[in-house]
Amino acid sequence: MIIRQLQQSDKKRWISFFQSLSEDTIENRYHHLVKNKDIDIIKGYWNYLIHDSISIIIEVDETVIGCAELYINTKNDGAEIAITIADKWQDAGMGNLLMCYMEVLINCYYDIKSITLNILPTNTRMKKLAEKHRFKYHKDYVWIKEI
Ligand SMILES: CC(C)(COP(=O)(O)OP(=O)(O)OC[C@H]1O[C@@H](n2cnc3c(N)ncnc32)[C@H](O)[C@@H]1OP(=O)(O)O)[C@@H](O)C(=O)NCCC(=O)NCCS
Repeated sequence: MIIRQLQQSDKKRWISFFQSLSEDTIENRYHHLVKNKDIDIIKGYWNYLIHDSISIIIEVDETVIGCAELYINTKNDGAEIAITIADKWQDAGMGNLLMCYMEVLINCYYDIKSITLNILPTNTRMKKLAEKHRFKYHKDYVWIKEI
């Protein structure tokens, strides 16, 4: 298992990862379904990911099994994290691992005052992970951790 930063050369691998995700997982991450796994929408997500985020992936045998995205907002010294784990690897500690990694990354390299997570109210697994990492429910979908 390798944990490393996502690179431009990972495009095919990341698209395969996305295409492997169940509807539930896509809805929990993106808050809507990507109908028929529309390739143009997936490529749009890829462009956003590679240009606007600092993303960390977990790779097993050259297959992406998890991805954590960090979006820095310089206007309010805040950051947003989003995590996606491949369905068959969920509930095995990978989300927790990526959350720890992202928090260390932020603490070491960024002058950030708060971290935000956007979580659907029905996403009990992510809410549990957020609570474990001391995020507090703010309002609507928003959970915040002050640093
Ligand atoms: C949410 C997600 C990132 C969590 O990652 P994961 O690897 O599955 O979760 P972990 O194994 O690290 O477990 C996190 C905690 O949730 C708990 N948990 C697991 N399945 C659960 C379930 N169905 N209901 C409630 N809690 C659950 C685990 O027990 C663990 O708590 P513990 O360490 O106290 O035992 C992952 O499931 C995922 O990608 N889901 C779909 C996309 C998504 O929801 N992304 C979040 C967008 S912000």
